[in-house]
Amino acid sequence: MNIETRITHAGLCTDSVTGAISTPIYQTATFRHPAVGVSTGYDYSRTVNPTRQVLENVMADLEGGDRGFAFASGMGAITTVLMMFSNGDHLLVSDDLYGGTYRVLERNFRQLGITVDYVDMTQLESVEAAIIPGHTKAILIETPTNPLMKITDLAKVSALARSKGLLTIVDNTFMTPYLQRPIELGADVVVHSGTKYLGGHNDVLSGVVVTARPELSEKIGFIQNSTGNVLGPQDSWLMLRGIKTLSLRMEKQQQNAAAIAEWLVKNPHVKQVYYPGLPGHPGREIQVKQSNGFGAMLSFRVPDAAWVERIINRVKVITYAESLGGVETLITYPMKQTHGDIPAEIRQKIGVTDDLIRLSVGIEHIDDLIGDLEQAISGGAKG
Ligand SMILES: Cc1ncc(COP(=O)(O)O)c(C=O)c1O
Repeated sequence: MNIETRITHAGLCTDSVTGAISTPIYQTATFRHPAVGVSTGYDYSRTVNPTRQVLENVMADLEGGDRGFAFASGMGAITTVLMMFSNGDHLLVSDDLYGGTYRVLERNFRQLGITVDYVDMTQLESVEAAIIPGHTKAILIETPTNPLMKITDLAKVSALARSKGLLTIVDNTFMTPYLQRPIELGADVVVHSGTKYLGGHNDVLSGVVVTARPELSEKIGFIQNSTGNVLGPQDSWLMLRGIKTLSLRMEKQQQNAAAIAEWLVKNPHVKQVYYPGLPGHPGREIQVKQSNGFGAMLSFRVPDAAWVERIINRVKVITYAESLGGVETLITYPMKQTHGDIPAEIRQKIGVTDDLIRLSVGIEHIDDLIGDLEQAISGGAKG
């Protein structure tokens, strides 16, 4: 079956008793055992809950993995994956990445003896050079990166990792399995902030992990159950409902994003536009090779920080808020919001500076979005 159909059928008729079209919300903490030593397969909702299980199976299917796991947030998912490592282990991580991932690595995992080096994953030689034999255990990649939209060649980095005995973990939040399936390209583990495109409506927090092989599923399943980081049944249901329209939303969102990127490039007040679909984007060819689209995230630079503030204060159709991936277009100031926890000198080095604005493009009419940006940017020019 094509992925659009599998997406639309997320959770369809999973209850064979009633034939309910929509997966029921099993709002229960625990399950009756028919007799001593006999289980229905459901014992306690931290371990397995039927509604969450449907979502987890849907995600495993869409990503082409062995098993899926649903968590209370994207950070919950990432934390669970990081708990596979221990004192003395070393990780290589994309140098341009979500600030929360940087924060959990630096503030929580470093104190447990897990060290990290941040590398430009677009340069295969730099990745190889940063591997510390005997210590490096995994490579954690965001592609496109957040917020500068750098593209990593997933097949090449995964092949390198495999040849050195390392795991490849990909944060696929920006792309979703509709546009990119890292496991098919050689990755071992995929993580998501399900809060973003998968949920799609800015109304639910969630995280997802999909593992490529049973031995990894075993590890993640154990950590999920033992630490209790799980998504509740109501939120699992909201995720299933959101996923059903993922392909339509993604198509419309990326169509709008491409139009905005092209418009921004021509705007005399905009210094630079970062969108993988633009002809001059350095990662465009790799993106075409490894995914089915360019997504709906873009960033751009304006002359200075004062401009950023004026633009953000002037937008009317677009909303100033953190997060991304929902049907509503959001404007974000990475330096102050999503990347606020990254030290200033590192932000400066990678280019997350005070003149950078990020857009998560939604499904509104394109004329309203461009009209809003037009008035906000020309208003920004007036001071
Ligand atoms: C790429 C990426 N990964 C992970 C996360 C964390 O997800 P959550 O906010 O659901 O914990 C985010 C959040 O913005 C993100 O953008």
